[in-house]
Amino acid sequence: MKTYFSPAKINLYLKIVSKRLDGYHDLSTLMQTISLGDFLHIELAHSDSLTCTNSMVPTDSTNLILKALNLFRSKTHLTFNFKVHLEKNIPMQAGLGGGSSNAATILWACNELTQSNIPVNQLLEWSAEIGSDIPFFFSQGTAHCSGRGEFVKALPHLDKKKVWIVKPKVSLSTPSVFQNFNLEENLINNDEQWGVNDLEKAAFKLEPSLFKLKNRLVEAGFDTVMMTGSGSSFYCLGDCSIQNDQELLIYSAFFINRHHDQWY
Ligand code: C5P
Repeated sequence: MKTYFSPAKINLYLKIVSKRLDGYHDLSTLMQTISLGDFLHIELAHSDSLTCTNSMVPTDSTNLILKALNLFRSKTHLTFNFKVHLEKNIPMQAGLGGGSSNAATILWACNELTQSNIPVNQLLEWSAEIGSDIPFFFSQGTAHCSGRGEFVKALPHLDKKKVWIVKPKVSLSTPSVFQNFNLEENLINNDEQWGVNDLEKAAFKLEPSLFKLKNRLVEAGFDTVMMTGSGSSFYCLGDCSIQNDQELLIYSAFFINRHHDQWY
């Protein structure tokens, strides 16, 4: 059995560039992997199976782990199966890319455990077929992503900065946040700077309590407070005096990067 770490990501900024005819949005975003993550325990088996420590995670064919396994097999025409146990630490529907990270991790593991030597750029390209956030994880953890998310430009690693992740009880579904996004309301905002996320307004309309939470975090003294991805969690930089709260999950993490020939 082999264990792989599967990191969460945050969007340090996220700008929506246009709404596309296929229903997706072109975006421009700076993404970073962090030390909060899941663990995938994987072994070769006679048939596929997926179990998870969190009973809320679907373990049927809708799970991106099983989609990624099928993708790798169909691209390579290899026949093998995996028994996968997912130790879930990344909150779901939080904008932290947990499912996407799991899918990227499985593709890397497939390549390694079957000694297929598929180039990482090929894995990145294949992964875009099953999810827009997956290609990013094939960078080394700091990258600018554009298009749907599939154009990944690797950037120099940032300092190993400390970051707080604040996850409220409420969760948000990615499609509904994107559907609520109004490009006209955001056109005047051309900022591509840390702390600016065009999807916040849409998320706050769906869930006004998130607006209150953002203000509370700003008032607590953080330097930067921004919703990550399509929410519902926030990343916060700097020091603060936020109290533990039954309504919030608060994680202390730091930026991580991977070595070019190793997984995270
Ligand atoms: O690609 P993925 O399945 O992760 O996307 C989920 C949903 O999020 C899409 O169906 C779409 O509604 C929305 N989305 C989008 N623009 C993107 C990425 C996702 O509109 N760049």
